[in-house]
Amino acid sequence: MSSDNHDRDDESNGATATTDKLSPMDLRSEFSHHDPTVARINNGSFGSCPSSVIEAQQRYQLRFLQQPDDFYYNHLKPSILRSRQAIKTLINAGHVDEISIVDNATTGAAIVLQHVKWCFFQSKFNPGDTAVMLHYAYGAVKKSVEAYVTRAGGHVIEVNMPFPIASDDDIITAFKNALELGKSDNRKVRLAVIDHITSMPSVVIPVKELVKMCRDEGVDCIFVDAAHAIGSIEVDVQEIGADFYTSNLHKWLFCPPSIAFLHCRNPEVPNLHHPVVSHEYGNGIAIESSWIGTRDYSAQLVVPEALEFINRFEGGLDGIRKWNHQKVIEMAEMLVKIWCTNLGTPLDMCSSMAMVGLPACLGIMSDSDALTLRSHLRDCYKVEVPIYYRQPKDGEVDPVTGYARISHQIYNTINDYYRLRDAICNLVSSGFTCKVFQD
Ligand SMILES: Cc1ncc(COP(=O)(O)O)c(C=O)c1O
Repeated sequence: MSSDNHDRDDESNGATATTDKLSPMDLRSEFSHHDPTVARINNGSFGSCPSSVIEAQQRYQLRFLQQPDDFYYNHLKPSILRSRQAIKTLINAGHVDEISIVDNATTGAAIVLQHVKWCFFQSKFNPGDTAVMLHYAYGAVKKSVEAYVTRAGGHVIEVNMPFPIASDDDIITAFKNALELGKSDNRKVRLAVIDHITSMPSVVIPVKELVKMCRDEGVDCIFVDAAHAIGSIEVDVQEIGADFYTSNLHKWLFCPPSIAFLHCRNPEVPNLHHPVVSHEYGNGIAIESSWIGTRDYSAQLVVPEALEFINRFEGGLDGIRKWNHQKVIEMAEMLVKIWCTNLGTPLDMCSSMAMVGLPACLGIMSDSDALTLRSHLRDCYKVEVPIYYRQPKDGEVDPVTGYARISHQIYNTINDYYRLRDAICNLVSSGFTCKVFQD
């Protein structure tokens, strides 16, 4: 294991020097509220919001506080519609009525899964009919499937996929097998929950192929959980063709917490309601979602300002996506080379996040060890990065059992990744092992 000493701060982060484009100085200033002592390489969990967008949000908050009635009667709905229209264009939806703005992907999932629950309650689906989802589906979404679908009589099949993963084919084959199993004993597959990018481990899923396979098999409801997608990979909902598609704008699209969209291919489908019922109940999911009681709606109103910020970057959103993808790969390859480990996925299955194998000698033997190491990196090295534990297969020699999920967003510099590199090298050379924390 070696560690070369390039402690130069990388300035060439895609920002340009032209006037209305983001200069490197503008970029630093837009994120100057970030704690400067922390190497923040975890954009994936909570996203980030530049100060120009925060200021726009605060203007909306103040306008509401200054004259709430005027804001409510004259500005709120048109402003939400403006955000919905911007999202429609971004994701190539057919009509703005297909777009609802909700708080987060968890709420998007609740809307879809409650709809499925009613299909069971109204005997459109039979007890024992199946729902297929990835084993790596997000924890909160799995709980929602349990709460709405299993409790309503559905049978859930989890699709196991290998990790590290070699290619799309591994996922496609595993999914096909699960659909076959779901159809056995005269049951029908009623629901497929497909991640666009899984959270932990982070893998870009061949969503178009899986949706097509589900369509060909006659799956009634195809839901794509794309919490990480918008802003980090290309999204074209018509091309993907799912019934429902949800994504957070506060993760990779520079919006403040919290805002997500739910795209419904057919928003008129029966029993599609927001879980929080208010005055707009029955007026269609998009309008229901636009008023769920008195609260702060400002995060939902600043999509145009977030896009203005994005367009100041060379190449706009496409430029940001390509930049982050290219940089995260570069950083991931630098780290595996130094640590003598491996990546968790092929490069084309990374988005703006990558899974980087950690040295086996760190002794990560459980989820709890992974969390311990993550906390240790935060507390002792001020490096923020999630760690994934992978159970080794029988007979593996010196298996890589821990992977760091690194993110790249435009505020990151190469130094952030050198901080992680050096922290791990330091732990290895000092003989650190998670076993110390196990008793
Ligand atoms: C794949 C996936 N689905 C759903 C969610 C939930 O997002 P939120 O907490 O914003 O609702 C996340 C959050 O990280 C996620 O990674």
